[in-house]
Parts: sequence; structure tokens; C-alpha cells
Amino acid sequence: MLDTLDISIQKVPSSRINEVDFDNIPFGKVYSDHMFIADYEDGQWSDLRIVPYANLSMAPASSVIHYGQSVFEGLKAYKNNDGEAVVFRPDANAKRLNRSAERMCIPEVPEELFMQAMTELLKVDKDWIPNKENTALYIRPYVFAMDDYIGIKPSEKYRFMIITCPVGAYYSEPVKVKIETEFTRAAKGGTGYAKAAGNYAGSLYPAKLAQKQGYHQLVWTDATEHKYIEESGTMNIMFVINDTLITPEASSTILKGITRDSVLTLARDWGMKVEERKISITEVIEAAKNGTLQDAFGAGTAATIAHIKLIGHEGVDYTLPPIEQRAFSNKVLKAMDAIKLGEAEDKFDWIYKF
Ligand code: COI
Repeated sequence: MLDTLDISIQKVPSSRINEVDFDNIPFGKVYSDHMFIADYEDGQWSDLRIVPYANLSMAPASSVIHYGQSVFEGLKAYKNNDGEAVVFRPDANAKRLNRSAERMCIPEVPEELFMQAMTELLKVDKDWIPNKENTALYIRPYVFAMDDYIGIKPSEKYRFMIITCPVGAYYSEPVKVKIETEFTRAAKGGTGYAKAAGNYAGSLYPAKLAQKQGYHQLVWTDATEHKYIEESGTMNIMFVINDTLITPEASSTILKGITRDSVLTLARDWGMKVEERKISITEVIEAAKNGTLQDAFGAGTAATIAHIKLIGHEGVDYTLPPIEQRAFSNKVLKAMDAIKLGEAEDKFDWIYKF
């Protein structure tokens, strides 16, 4: 455990908070007053600072711009029913950031640095944590390469930053997804398990094509045969078939989602049958056809649980059971909310208070 770190704080002269309509918060467009920055040089993180949220100045040759050496995280802070600020499983995000960083040749951010930076930033901007239903303060930690060098090699300089933004729902309605059998999000041995910026850039074009066909998002399949389900959009994907919760097993192509882990943990705790395994497109389509597909949803930090209302495959759309009949996804969403709000016991130690 590191000692308390020396983080300088420069506050805004006047807050922008009164300009924000907390009754109508879009996702990811409104940023809190401050941000955290640390710089990495000569093998260490230094100049830890909280400063007003503002544009960055960087060299036009900065390697992140050219080669995408960058990783990020996403987590959320809430106000519980007693008005206390809480963060959901930040230790898991701190660990995952470093798994992603290792894959992208980015230096580790010590967990204590991550936790203290996040905590101090939240203390400064705690009034930005919204308290209405289905809202949260989205926390975005990220690390990127800063070398002013256009050759290709791991950068020597990096920046670790955290910005935060009050958010409402990520999807305004249950989603229509298309099973993607041409393009690939991640291949074995690639960067799919890392929260690497480039993974998201590469997903945009196939998603745009699906959106033109009327879908909200894609269901990604394996890169080799396009036979097995992998993820949905930027989320993990889960199905309930014949009362069994099924999700693709974690692998080098699948992000080990923290919401994914929370859902699986709760399901197992409730005695539900849970399977982390390969799941073929055929299995899902057959289940949709014969009525054994009871539930399908994406699980991720931004959306929490995104109900899937329709699955498109080879030009055929399969409509899934009405959302109000989805016993599992509705129950697990409620259970996670209850833990965050302090209405239910935090028996897995997921809630961080400061
Ligand atoms: C998250 O769920 O936090 C994500 O990574 C989605 C993000 C790309 C908005």
C-alpha cells in the first residue's frame, strides 16, 4: 500500500454545474468541472494533478494519434439512498486497466494511484454525481502514449487521465441486434480481451452498416468460422435458454466485463444454472424459433443491462419475448441497483465508499 500521494488541486473559478439539466442527461456529452492528469517519464508517474476540465495540448506527432497506443476503463459512481457517494467495483477496473496496458506495451498504473486519483477527483466533483433513477457519474480513466516520435515503437512517455461525466441511459430502448458473419471484432491472440482504443475504432464501420439496415448494434462472432457468438456491440452478451444462463467463456477475444462477472456471480448465488462456454449461432436461433430463448441481453458498464428485443440473422429477424416477461435480466438489474443504492446487502464487497 502506497502512502497518500501528493496530488495538487487547481479548482475552477466557477462551476458549470448549474448549466446542466440533470433531468435530461445525454450519455457522454457533459463533463464535470475537473480532470485528473499524471505524466509518465523516466519510468515513473509524476506531476499528479487535478485541474479544470480543458482541452489538451500535445505534439502533432504524438504516437497515440498515429498508432493508437491507448487503453481505457469505464466505471460508475452513484448516490445511494443515504446520499453517500459510492463507486461500483473500482478495484476490478484498476486491475483490468493494467491487463489491457500490458497487452498494449503501456506501463502499469499502480492500483493505489488509480484509486487515490479517482477518489480525489470524485471528492472535488462529488456534486456532479446525479441521484435520479437510471443516472450515474460515468468515470473514464485512460492511458495513452505521448512520445513526439513518428517511428513505431512503444512510447517512452505516457499520460494517465480521468474524466467524469454525469450520464443517463446509454440506450433509450431495448436493442435490435444483427449477427455479424463477415466482419470481425477480435481474433485469437489479438487485443480483444483488452480495453484498447483501436478495438472500438475497428468496430465502427460494421456497426454503421448494420445501423443502415435498422439495427442498433451487432453481435460479434468468432473470427475463424463466424459460427460462435462472442460479444454484442461494446458489451458482453448473455442468454437464458431453458432456465440456464449462458455466456461465451472469457478468452483472448472476449473482454472480461465487470458487469458480466457481477451478473454471473449473482446468478450463481441464486442457485441458477450458469454456463460459460461456446455458444453457436445455430443454438441461439433454434432456441429463438422453438421458444426456449427466454432472455437475451448485453452486459456492460455504460448500459448495465441492455435488453435485446430482436436478433437478425441472414436476413431473418427473430423477435424475442416481451421485456416485461424477462424474469432473469429484470431481476439481476434490480438486484445490482439495490446493492448500489444501499437497499441490499453488499455481500460481495462491491461497493467502495470514500
Ligand atoms: C462501457 O460499457 O463502459 C464501455 O466500454 C462502453 C463505452 C464504449 C461507451
